[in-house]
Amino acid sequence: MISDKMNAALNEQVNKEMYSAFLYMAMSSQCDDMGLKGFAKWFMAQYHEEMFHAMKLYEYIHSQGGKVTLQSIDQPPAEFGSTLDMFTKTLAHEQMVTQSINNLMDLAIEEKDHATRIFLQWYVTEQVEEEENDNEIIDQLRLNDGNPQGLMMIDRELGQRGVNVPIDFSMGVSAGEE
Ligand code: FEO
Repeated sequence: MISDKMNAALNEQVNKEMYSAFLYMAMSSQCDDMGLKGFAKWFMAQYHEEMFHAMKLYEYIHSQGGKVTLQSIDQPPAEFGSTLDMFTKTLAHEQMVTQSINNLMDLAIEEKDHATRIFLQWYVTEQVEEEENDNEIIDQLRLNDGNPQGLMMIDRELGQRGVNVPIDFSMGVSAGEE
């Protein structure tokens, strides 16, 4: 069971994860437009990850007898600058998401809601990984300093990224898992 306050706070997080998905889809489109297929693929994989994050929350809210109230999703920017600009914005966005997860965790602790605290632990770990990945890519892009040949190499490398999360949620986010 979750409190109404926790239900509302988790609902907000569903919206933030869905906005994240939109943001990365917008970046994917921009990369595609720039001819950077690997970057586009990376951001589209990130889109799927964010939808998975949203659906994990969706499912958890229901499992705790709560209800999901969907809210409108803000429009992401239509234009971005360089790939470095996109990853700098990605990192800043993820830091905001980390703060949001931390606030949820604070609420779970305050309410002595141990189930939600344990559930949120997954997101705490995920955020560490996401920020680390973004920082690594930013470092590579800074080192490359706009060199077109180097950029194509990074593009090839990012294009190796696959989608490691479920994308069909009709059977639930844990379908196929133990
Ligand atoms: Fe769902 Fe990128 O945090």
